[in-house]
Amino acid sequence: MKRSFIREILESITPNTISFAGGLPDESLFPSQDLRRSADRILNDPSTIQYSTSSGIPALRQQIADYYSQQGFETHADNILITSGSQQALDLLSRHYREQSITIESPSYLGAMGIFSINHLQTDAITLADNGIMIDPFFKSLQRTRLAYLIPDYQNPTGQTYSLEKRKTIASNLKQHDAILIEDAPYSDLYFDERQPPISTMVPDRSYHLGSFSKTLAPALRIGWIRASEELLHPLILYKEAMDLHTNSLTQYILHDYLHNQNQYTHHLERLRKHYAKKMKLFSEVLQTYLPTFLFEEPNGGMFIYGKLPGIDTTQLLQKTAARGVVFVPGNEFYQGGEGLNEIRFNFTHPSIDSMEKGIKTVAECL
Ligand SMILES: Cc1ncc(COP(=O)(O)O)c(C=O)c1O
Repeated sequence: MKRSFIREILESITPNTISFAGGLPDESLFPSQDLRRSADRILNDPSTIQYSTSSGIPALRQQIADYYSQQGFETHADNILITSGSQQALDLLSRHYREQSITIESPSYLGAMGIFSINHLQTDAITLADNGIMIDPFFKSLQRTRLAYLIPDYQNPTGQTYSLEKRKTIASNLKQHDAILIEDAPYSDLYFDERQPPISTMVPDRSYHLGSFSKTLAPALRIGWIRASEELLHPLILYKEAMDLHTNSLTQYILHDYLHNQNQYTHHLERLRKHYAKKMKLFSEVLQTYLPTFLFEEPNGGMFIYGKLPGIDTTQLLQKTAARGVVFVPGNEFYQGGEGLNEIRFNFTHPSIDSMEKGIKTVAECL
């Protein structure tokens, strides 16, 4: 009942709704003109709209591999599988590990929990502490599952980042238990100050590192990837082939052309980080001014501010705010049990600066 109620509300969003609900980038920052120029250039060559290879176009795989190598994580094109967004990466992995057990964070990304459930993975949800998953219960769980799904950078939904110490401890325990890590990292390039190394750099042969251009460039490209050892990638390529033959090669070629000018992308990312850091600060100030009972910590990157309204059922609150044209996601949605009843996830990247104040004032009035 409750699930369908939330879905109904989120589906009722109109152009006039103030939405803090989705994980959407700011459209005003899409590099549309640069992408248009790339599209014009590549369409001169008819081979760009021909069938292509299942692993992805070699030149794009090489660019992604170089991006890792430049950051000290040595990677070859053969370690990259291009997917239709990182959601497809999760789908391929779920098929591969079908019906097995997997340790996940609690709360976690809705899209991952959905696909794990469809493929009958048995999830063991372990609470997130302030700087990452709670270590002792995580290790106990890992002994049993030997497979973990984590989002260590600006986690969805909590916005949390794992400390370096915790990353190291997790890596050593993955080795100790001969376990495999699925590290989902679509927000990693959206850091405000400094970044932590991926856990995968510490366990390169027992990890899948998932990336995406959805949050940094444009979700409609539908381009993500998996970085893993050739041995781990091989069975996934077979699933990929059976599923859709290959990821949209037109957008792969556009992206490859766009990335060819390295300064263009670097400059775009810098602009994005600066803009999002500013928007997060503004949103945080609006929350402190108009909704002072909302308890939260500012994230160091990503797209979400997550927190708690003690004593308030946030699903009921959403019912009221939605009637007045303002929506967010109640925390309860991101848990498998009945937890998170007082929690809320707010997206700060997509709403305009004007609508932040207007929307949060409405939430406060409904409260
Ligand atoms: C943690 C996480 N993983 C994966 C995805 C899927 O992103 P995409 O398929 O657009 O790359 C999202 C989207 O919100 C996400 O938050």
